[in-house]
Amino acid sequence: MTPSIRPLIVGNWKMNGLTASLNEFNAFGAGNDAALRRAVDLIICPPATLLSALAHSAPGKGISIGAQDCHMKDSGAHTGDLSAAMLADAGASAVLVGHSERRADHGESDAIVRAKAEAAYRNGLTAIICVGETRAEREAGKTLSVIRRQLKGSVPETMTARDLVIGYEPVWAIGTGLTPTAKDVEEVHASIRAELKKIIGKEEGARTRILYGGSVKPTNAKELLAVPNVDGLLVGGASLKAEDFLTIAGFYR
Ligand code: 13P
Repeated sequence: MTPSIRPLIVGNWKMNGLTASLNEFNAFGAGNDAALRRAVDLIICPPATLLSALAHSAPGKGISIGAQDCHMKDSGAHTGDLSAAMLADAGASAVLVGHSERRADHGESDAIVRAKAEAAYRNGLTAIICVGETRAEREAGKTLSVIRRQLKGSVPETMTARDLVIGYEPVWAIGTGLTPTAKDVEEVHASIRAELKKIIGKEEGARTRILYGGSVKPTNAKELLAVPNVDGLLVGGASLKAEDFLTIAGFYR
């Protein structure tokens, strides 16, 4: 944690969730009590098909809605894609960009991620820019240089702490049950903080929230949240159940 930064927990539902998930979302709201609302910001990123329904049901729950990806353009002939303008119109206030699953499955380069972050900014959405090394890169001792390169390539210099969040998600930790040691997370987050200060300036870089993601569970969240420069978490599988997600966020109470 960083004492002066308000923490944030983001749930990424990925390609999970049908209309029935609205019941689960109601449980998220019911468990988000006054103490939790005072302590931490919560964002749920459902699949795009549920964005509008969750956004309609969100008022009063103290939970913001985010999207999982956006196109770099605001409109046009791009069949199947969704623009940041559309996501904002559907009720999103944030969007994940450059998630490793997008970088791997859709060949998204740092330049594309940067253009998407700019589209988010243009349309008033907080861009949650994701970075992270693969297992091979970690084993080759390249973690910090890979993260630095991703940040340099993906983060627009004009962004501020208000419209930017960084998600550090080691690719090998996503959905595997494996997590880096607290010491490893501390080293990477300190390096992200230093690089951010270079890219967007000392003050904005010092205030930007840096989240850890990758196999976060109720059983390991407390230890991860205590790491310096971990200003919250990006939760995949464990965000599908209100009980698990609220337990994780609840460590901030
Ligand atoms: P898991 O928590 O399921 O490992 O997923 C992490 C993630 O990719 C969140 O964006």
